[in-house]
Amino acid sequence: MDSRARRTLANLKAYQPGTSIQEARRQVKRSKIIKLASNENPLGMSPKAKQAVRAALGSLHRYPDATCRTLRLKLAKQLKVQPEGLVFGNGSDEVLTLAMKAFLEPGDEVLVAYPAFLIYELQAQAHGAAFRRVPLKDYRYDLPAMRAAINSKTKLVFIANPDNPTGTYVTRAELEAFLSDLPTHVLVVMDEAYYEFVTAKDYPQTLDYVGTRKVLITRSFSKAYGLAGLRVGYGVAHPEIAAALEVAREPFNVNSLAQAAAAAALDDRAFLKATLALMREGRWYLERELKALQLLPIPGSTNFVLVDCGSQAAQVVQGLFQRGVIVRGMRAWHLEHCFRVSIGTMPENRRFIKELKAVLAHGS
Ligand SMILES: Cc1ncc(COP(=O)(O)O)c(C=O)c1O
Repeated sequence: MDSRARRTLANLKAYQPGTSIQEARRQVKRSKIIKLASNENPLGMSPKAKQAVRAALGSLHRYPDATCRTLRLKLAKQLKVQPEGLVFGNGSDEVLTLAMKAFLEPGDEVLVAYPAFLIYELQAQAHGAAFRRVPLKDYRYDLPAMRAAINSKTKLVFIANPDNPTGTYVTRAELEAFLSDLPTHVLVVMDEAYYEFVTAKDYPQTLDYVGTRKVLITRSFSKAYGLAGLRVGYGVAHPEIAAALEVAREPFNVNSLAQAAAAAALDDRAFLKATLALMREGRWYLERELKALQLLPIPGSTNFVLVDCGSQAAQVVQGLFQRGVIVRGMRAWHLEHCFRVSIGTMPENRRFIKELKAVLAHGS
C-alpha cells in the first residue's frame, strides 16, 4: 500500500467477494457454471422492477432524486414508519458504513460476534475504531456474553439477524434481554439483510424498538428482491439517528435505476412469494440431501446453508469449482471445516448435490 495512505489502513486487506461466473469461466472449462456463492436471488429480479428500470432509462442524463422520495414514501407506508426515519444506501453495506461514519469518534470501540459478516470489522478499522469480538456459541450469537463485553468505549454493536455465514437468528427474548438497561452511549445495529426469509415466530420484529433509540435496522433489496447488481438497501431508525446518517451520506448515493427498481419491487408481492417458496423448498431439499451424505447443514433461516463437512471442506470447495459449481469456502471466517452454499433454483440445487456426490466419491 502507498506509504501516504492513512496508517490505520496499512494492515487491512480488501474484502474478498465470492468468485464471479466470468472469473470461473476463465479458470475452468465447463459449459455451464453455476454460482451459489453470494446469496443472490436465483429467480433474478421481479418483472415489475425490470419494467421500471426500462422506463427509467430515458432519464439517466439527470441526477437521481437525492431524497429517494418515491421509494421513501412507499416504504414508509409499507413499514408504518416515519419517512424521516429511513436512510437509503448503495446496498445495505453502505448504510452499515454510514453508521460508522456518523457515530465513531477516535477511541470508540465496535463490538461484533465472531465469525460474523466481515464488513463490520473491516470498516470499523478503516474508520479508525478498535473492534472487540465475542465468539459465537454453537453457531449462534452469544448475546449474554456480548452484553457483558460492553464497556464505556463501546459505541456500536453489530448483530446480523439472521447471521451470515451461519444463517442462525437471535430470538425476541434474547434481544430484549440484551437491550434492557443498555447504556445510552451504545447504538445497536440490527443487520437484517435476510429479514424476509425468516418464518420463525420467536424472531424479533425490531421496528417495535425504533422509538427507544437503541437500534438502527438495516435491510437489503439484494436478497429477497433480487436487486444485488443495482445496489440499494436502507436503514430504519429514530429520525434523530437517521439525521446523523443523512449528514454523512453522499447526496446521490442511490442511482435512478436502483430507486425505480426498488419502488416497483415493493409492489411485486407475487415475485417475493415465489422467491420465499423456492427458498423453503430448496432448504428442505438441500438439508435432506446433505444429511444423507453424512454432512452437517447448520439449521438456518436464510437463502443459504452453512455446511460442516470436517477436514475435507477446502477439497470439496475446490472440487465443486472444477466441476463448475461455485460455493463459498469459509477460511476467511476461520471456519475451515465448513462451506456455504446459496440456495439456487431446484435444477441448480440438484446439480450441486450431483457434483458434490461425485467430489465426495472421487476426492475431487
Ligand atoms: C449479513 C449481511 N449484511 C449486509 C449485506 C450487504 O448486502 P447489500 O449491500 O447487498 O444490501 C450482506 C450481503 O451479503 C450480508 O450478508
